[in-house]
Amino acid sequence: MDLFVINGGHALSGETRISGSKNAALPILFASLLTKERCEISNVPELKDVQSAYDLLNRLGKNCFYGYGNFIAEEHSEINPIAPYELVRKMRASILAAGPLIARFGKARFSLPGGCTIGVRPIDMHLEAFKQLGVEISHDKGDVLMTAKKMHPNRIKFRFPSVGATENLMMAASLIDGETVLENCAREPEIEDLSAVLVKMGAAVIGAGTGVIKIKGKPALNGFSHSVMPDRIETGTFMLLCAAAGGKITLLGADSKPLSALIRAMRKAGVKISCGKGVITVSAEVSRPKPVSISTKPYPGFPTDLQAPWMAFMAQCSGECEVHEKIFENRFMHVPELARMEANITVMDRKAIIHGVPGLMGAPVMASDLRAGAALVVAAAAARGTSIIRRIYHIDRGYEKLELKLRELGADVRRRKDDGSIK
Ligand code: EPZ
Repeated sequence: MDLFVINGGHALSGETRISGSKNAALPILFASLLTKERCEISNVPELKDVQSAYDLLNRLGKNCFYGYGNFIAEEHSEINPIAPYELVRKMRASILAAGPLIARFGKARFSLPGGCTIGVRPIDMHLEAFKQLGVEISHDKGDVLMTAKKMHPNRIKFRFPSVGATENLMMAASLIDGETVLENCAREPEIEDLSAVLVKMGAAVIGAGTGVIKIKGKPALNGFSHSVMPDRIETGTFMLLCAAAGGKITLLGADSKPLSALIRAMRKAGVKISCGKGVITVSAEVSRPKPVSISTKPYPGFPTDLQAPWMAFMAQCSGECEVHEKIFENRFMHVPELARMEANITVMDRKAIIHGVPGLMGAPVMASDLRAGAALVVAAAAARGTSIIRRIYHIDRGYEKLELKLRELGADVRRRKDDGSIK
C-alpha cells in the first residue's frame, strides 16, 4: 500500500490538465456490451475503477485494449453474462453491465454489489425498473438472476433521480423496439455523455439532462467512437485545493458549465474564479474564506462528490457554517480525520456544523473512501507542516496521476510505500 507525504501551508501556482470523467467513462465502457461491433473510447482516465471495468468486460467475454487514454472493446468470442462477486465487489458501478447484458442476451447473473463506507447503496430502483421492461428477477446465494423472454417498452418513474438506475435503463431500453419513457431521471452531465454514445450506436434518445428521457431502441446497435467529457469532480477538487491552500492556478481542458453550484458557493466565500473556453482560473486572495453553508442535491444542485473537499475548504472559514449531506447516509468519514488536523466540526446525523479555525495543522491521517481521501489532500495542502495520508488506494480509484498534477500546481507531495518507516 502507498501513502502521500504532503508539506502544506504554502500558496499554490501553476497549471494542469483535467482528465476524462470517471463517472462518464464507466457507463460508456459498459455500453460496449450492447453491440458486437468495435467500440473506441478516448480520453479515458487511467484509474483503478477503469481497470476494474476492463477486468469485468474481459471476464464477460469482450476483448479489450486499454492504454494511453484509449479503450478499445471488440468481441471475438461468446459473451458469458455472469458477473462474479470477486469483480463486482471491487467496483459498485459494475452493476451498469446489467442493463446491456439483459437487453442483449435475455439473461444475466450478477453478484449483488455490497455496500461501501458511504452507504448501503441498494440497487432496488434498477431491479424494479427492469421488471417493468419484462425482466424476471430472482436471487440465489447473493447473486441476482435476471431472465427475459422478450423485453417490452414501458413508461417508468424513478422514486429518486438515481444516476446509475437512469444510465442502466437508458442502455437496456436502447435495444428494445418501441419507445420507453423514463421519468424523474437524474440530470447529471455524465448521462448526457452516455446519451450521445447511445445515439451514435443507433438508438433514438432525447431528453438526457432533463427529468424525462425517451428512448427508441433498435434490435441491434452499431459500434461507436467517442471521447469522454472532462471530469467535473476532479475539476472541482482542484478548485477547492487552491481555495484552501491559497494562490492562483489554471485548469486546462476544464468545463465550468456543470460546476455552477460549486462556483456560486466559492465566489460567495470570497474566491476569485474566471471561466474561459475550456479554461478555469482560480485565485484565493482571502486568508480565510467567508462561511458558506451548502446542501448536497441531485444535479444541478451541489454535488455530493464535492461535499468532503468543500468541508476541508470551509474548515478554515472565518465563522460557522453547515453542510447537509442529502444523498448518502454515511458520507462524513472524513470528519474525524480532519479533526486530527485541528478542524472543529460537529456531526449530527446528516448535518455537519463547521466552526472555522484560523489554520489547520499537518498530521498523519487515513483515507476511508475516494472523496474523503480527496478532502484530506485538500486539507493537507492548506495545513501548516507535514501530513501523511495512508490508504491512498481509495484516491487512486478516481484521480488520475494525482501527485504529478498536484506538483504541477505547486504542492509539495510525494508518494511513498507504506512500509512502516514513515511515522
Ligand atoms: C453515482 O453513483 C456516482 N458513481 C457517485 O460517484 C455519485 O456520488 C452518485 O452517482 C450521486 O451523484 C458513478 O457514476 C460511477 P445514485 P450511483 O444511484 O449511481 C440511493 C464517486 O465518488 N439508491 O444516484 O450509485 C443510493 O443509495 C461516486 O465518484 C437507492 O436507494 O448513485 C443513494 O443514497 C460515489 N436505490 C442515492 O440513491 C437504488 O436502486 C443516489 O444514488 C439506487 C440508488
